[in-house]
Amino acid sequence: MASPLHTPLCDLLGIEYPIIQAGMAIHGSEAVPPSPVGLVAAVTNAGGLGVLGDNFRDLDEMDAAISETKRLTAGRPYGVDFLIPASRIELGTTDNREAYQQAIAAHPRHAAFVAGLIEEHGLTAEAPAERAPISSAVLRRKIELVLDHHVPVFAAAAGEPPDWFVQRGHAQGMRFIGMCGAVRHAQRHVRAGADIITAQGTEAGGHTGNVATFVLVPQIVAAVRPLPVLAAGGIGTGRQVAAALALGAQGAWVGTAFLTSEETGIPAPHQAEILSSASEAFTLSKYASGLQQRGHVSPIKEAWGTSGLEALPFPIQRLIQEPLLRAARKAGRWDLVPNLAGQVAGMLTERRPARDILLDMVEEAAATIAGLQRVIA
Ligand SMILES: Cc1cc2nc3c(=O)[nH]c(=O)nc-3n(C[C@H](O)[C@H](O)[C@H](O)COP(=O)(O)O)c2cc1C
Repeated sequence: MASPLHTPLCDLLGIEYPIIQAGMAIHGSEAVPPSPVGLVAAVTNAGGLGVLGDNFRDLDEMDAAISETKRLTAGRPYGVDFLIPASRIELGTTDNREAYQQAIAAHPRHAAFVAGLIEEHGLTAEAPAERAPISSAVLRRKIELVLDHHVPVFAAAAGEPPDWFVQRGHAQGMRFIGMCGAVRHAQRHVRAGADIITAQGTEAGGHTGNVATFVLVPQIVAAVRPLPVLAAGGIGTGRQVAAALALGAQGAWVGTAFLTSEETGIPAPHQAEILSSASEAFTLSKYASGLQQRGHVSPIKEAWGTSGLEALPFPIQRLIQEPLLRAARKAGRWDLVPNLAGQVAGMLTERRPARDILLDMVEEAAATIAGLQRVIA
């Protein structure tokens, strides 16, 4: 049977339904990311496109995750997403521990505030992880790995992929997706050679801009025509997919709704919070990373909000909070760890297999479009 929801984007990506599971790397848990291999494979195998969020995997972990995804998806398309910083913030060749010491020395008021929060919540400070920061050298090796694996789709979480990557990727049939929260970002991605643009509205979970999906999508569609556009931010049901198509998008890039799946790696208390909270509980703040993110309200977020301290630039703001984050995780205090998710969480109440989430979305979108034609007639 022909797909009830087919757009030209499906042919471009070789998928059945134009629903893409957003690459999601930012997470509260260190162990399992929000979009682990199991989720990616479930979405791809159900006819959508699953995308690995690979910001925090090191090279060996990324290699293993891509190999496992290939094994589970048996030739079907999938994607990889990571951050290519627009302005590269190098923290030198040091590990995080040394960079952390430098950050503390340079920002004593912020460091003292974090120490106060640790004490106030009865936690014991934990040393920061020894993870390599995103340096140009690490980034280059990550890109080489994506090329070596012949990954079918690459999504640049922020910033544009370098020319040499796009040229070599295109030569082997790779498709490039550019994530955008503003028209000017989309224009930069077009110049960098993107094949598909994701227009992400402020409703979205994770790092996000200030323009709403309803306003952003048609503007980006007009600005990048004839390139196909994916709508993102606030899409969790088939009705919203149908609305995205009406705005000119050829598909949806969906994050938060897949955090309600059985396959996501987010901690159970965070999933429960997403399933039980109203949309207003998912607010914007720079407190966690130094860049604006949307996530659930928390005592730490509120404390930063009333502290009078400006958020430090990315990634220093994140780094300076490592001892608190690690201590909270170790103590199982998930209420103190950022729970990133979007406003659409307010209408999602059930934990389900990713396949059901995807197929219901497709079915409802097709029914909505057919229903609209009847209403208008
Ligand atoms: C927990 C979480 C982590 C995210 N991590 C990333 C990431 O690593 N890279 C990226 O491009 N986008 C990331 N995003 C944003 C998503 O790609 C996507 O644009 C967004 O979730 C869409 O809006 P929605 O949450 O309303 O579906 C993340 C979103 C969430 C909720």
